[in-house]
Amino acid sequence: MTKIVIAFYTAVILVSCTGKTGESSVSASEQVKLEQYLVEGRTLYLQHCGACHQADGKGLARLYPPLSQSDYLEGNVEKVVCNIRNGLNGPITVNGIEYNQAMPANYNLTPLEIAEITTYVYNSWGRSDGLISVLEVEKYLKNCSKD
Ligand code: HEC
Repeated sequence: MTKIVIAFYTAVILVSCTGKTGESSVSASEQVKLEQYLVEGRTLYLQHCGACHQADGKGLARLYPPLSQSDYLEGNVEKVVCNIRNGLNGPITVNGIEYNQAMPANYNLTPLEIAEITTYVYNSWGRSDGLISVLEVEKYLKNCSKD
């Protein structure tokens, strides 16, 4: 008797649950809220940030780093929120270029205003990261390290 062993069933089928169901659709009310944040955020940005970072977010020479295409923004919302509230000092690197000037604090901005500005920054100049809510911002502000 010839034994022919053929492994027919060595292939393991991995069923992965990627969860790609209809979750991606943003509700209409969230969309309206996002648009409100963006309108307010733009006005506040121009008042409080634009003088340095410029209306187009490109910054100014080696003095003020860009927000447009900034790698510093990547996955760093919590820190950005704290920087807006408390300012920023000391050397930082943005897109491979070192900056070392003081960014002023904004103690008078409310959590809502900071949420609007942050949402504007994270949804402008090619980014579309969606709403950064006032609740999120309040949580981050509680955790900012005190200097
Ligand atoms: C007086 C000028 C000035 C103003 C006004 C200002 N910044 Fe800045 N900003 C700076 C400087 C300078 C740095 C770099 C700080 C350092 O070198 O430590 C910086 C850094 C940053 C960074 C991190 C680096 C980057 O480019 O991604 C973010 C984000 C930022 N600012 C956002 C804002 C936002 C939002 C506002 C408005 C609420 C604002 N800044 C207002 C000067 C300013």
